[in-house]
Amino acid sequence: MLAASNDIVVEAWNTVLFDKYARFKHLLIEGLSGHSDEALARYPHPKGSRVLDVGCGFGDSATCIAKTVAPGGEVVGVDCAQNFVDAATGEARKAGVDNASFFLADVQLQDLRGPYDYAFSRFGTMFFMSPGAALRNIRKALKPGGELTQIVWRKREDNPWLFEAEQRVREIVPVISHEDTDEVHCGPGPFSMAGPDMVSSMMKGVGYDRITFERFDTDICIGRDVDEAIEFAMALGPAGEIIRLAREEGERLKPQVTKTLREALTPYLKDNGVWAPSSTWFINARNPG
Ligand SMILES: C[S@@+](CC[C@H](N)C(=O)[O-])C[C@H]1O[C@@H](n2cnc3c(N)ncnc32)[C@H](O)[C@@H]1O
Repeated sequence: MLAASNDIVVEAWNTVLFDKYARFKHLLIEGLSGHSDEALARYPHPKGSRVLDVGCGFGDSATCIAKTVAPGGEVVGVDCAQNFVDAATGEARKAGVDNASFFLADVQLQDLRGPYDYAFSRFGTMFFMSPGAALRNIRKALKPGGELTQIVWRKREDNPWLFEAEQRVREIVPVISHEDTDEVHCGPGPFSMAGPDMVSSMMKGVGYDRITFERFDTDICIGRDVDEAIEFAMALGPAGEIIRLAREEGERLKPQVTKTLREALTPYLKDNGVWAPSSTWFINARNPG
């Protein structure tokens, strides 16, 4: 069995999870931008600033920030998966952005090429095996007075687009824990930063100050129709991970899962697709230096 290190998570993001993200890129970029557009409006990056995008994925946030900080500013995106680094580099080039660059590193362990005025992360900080080490490393890459803004999911109950699917799948598919499988996995998972008491203590412990949490709620599109929403739920998030880790049994039970997810997701169908509530924290914090 592979050791319980970040290597397993890095491999997952560069293989199965990258493939799933690429398949549903159209929904993810649109849906997740609802949260980042608001966060970037509340915590804007001034022109001329140098910004690190942590766990940059396809790089759409980085491309957006690059346009804001020009002229004179730049964005540097970091991701642990070469496939995401390559995709982000290509997307920025396609968008005609010449002040964004991307590099491969494990944020938990490696040099982040600071100093930066700001660091930003949309859902890129919830999957570290040692989040304290990663957050300390990000702080050290910030100039004194530099700020980190993270977007993370709030509690499960306020994110029914992930949680209802997970609950339905748990009733049908046997849950295999990360310790009991050789499969790669996504680490602590999307709700690991949902608790403000735990997260603020951790951030304080690794040297941040002025730590604030702002709640933001918005509906996101999880499928152009119910069939796509079911496919999306069976591929991504905790529900998708349960099915994948159950291997053949997960595949065998898909017809039953499809039936129950249709019941769960149909109430969210609107004229222009399937829209479900979602809820995040915008966590802002400063490196006092
Ligand atoms: C949920 S995705 C978010 C991607 C992107 N920020 C977005 O909002 O579309 C999480 C990202 O964090 C990256 N990631 C996970 N663990 C990481 C680590 N230890 N170091 C660097 N990147 C990491 C993954 O490869 C993935 O691109």
